Amino acid sequence: MKRVRKAVIPVAGLGTRFLPATKAMPKEMLTVVDRPVVQYAVDEALEAGIEHIVFVTGRNKHVIEDYFDIQPELLDTLTQSGKREQLASLQKMQLPAGAVSFTRQQAPHGLGHAVWCARDLVGDEPFALLLPDMVSFGKRGCLAGAMELYGQTGGNVIAVEQCDPTETNKYGIVGKGQDVGTGFAVTEMVEKPAPAVAPSNYYINGRYILQPEVFELLGTQERGAGNEIQLTDAMKRLAGSQPFHAHSFDGRMFDCGSKEGFIQANVAFALGRADIRDLVFGPIAEMIAAEERPAEAA
Ligand code: G1P
Repeated sequence: MKRVRKAVIPVAGLGTRFLPATKAMPKEMLTVVDRPVVQYAVDEALEAGIEHIVFVTGRNKHVIEDYFDIQPELLDTLTQSGKREQLASLQKMQLPAGAVSFTRQQAPHGLGHAVWCARDLVGDEPFALLLPDMVSFGKRGCLAGAMELYGQTGGNVIAVEQCDPTETNKYGIVGKGQDVGTGFAVTEMVEKPAPAVAPSNYYINGRYILQPEVFELLGTQERGAGNEIQLTDAMKRLAGSQPFHAHSFDGRMFDCGSKEGFIQANVAFALGRADIRDLVFGPIAEMIAAEERPAEAA
């Protein structure tokens, strides 16, 4: 079984669900507490043992490249002024030279097309795929668990969670077969099915381990749901010749591409941080107790 060394992170999406915030700034750079959303995906990948990150970017996303580069003036200034804590936080997030690549998706043809754009950078080896809008919250990242299952099953692994059965039309949905390790064998996959025809309420939560044969299928994939080239459709074809297993994530993904998911993530991560929780929520709790609530926005 080949080791999974590379992760693809597509960051070309326009962020239309989050306008006007994302009009001039990539949605992946919005911050959850004090880190951009994309940093959570990178940290989760590194935690799972990934050594190289491939970003699929688009126009107006160059700030993501700058973010993962070294900023010499900033480092010098922090060093000179003895700001050790800030320096350490930058050093901690710095990816080693050569451990990150960028390629561009030239037009928005869908997730399947974005992944296909990474084919040459990934080459002939299995790879992880992390959709950065989905921010993993739990004892350990979702990908680390998926990797563990991959170690037992090989083939392809997709991470799943259960969604409200009325909301299957928002996600890729899988059919549930026999239990295996932390999950089960996948019997079918459908992109955004109506609740009446969905095979289950297990939704694909944005973490995948895929074999490179998927690239060839993506290259010939016809457009599907939403008139886009869908990854789920190519995976379905790949499942004809290769095993697919689902890893049931025991944490929770926040959809930071939506306003509600983004705010939930900020609250959850802030509550989970000892250095922030009391500072932020103490005064708010007091304010609410004293009924000094600001007038609600119209
Ligand atoms: C994509 C995938 C879908 C998955 C979802 C998770 O959809 O196509 O299968 O469930 O991400 O966020 P999108 O959100 O790009 O419409």
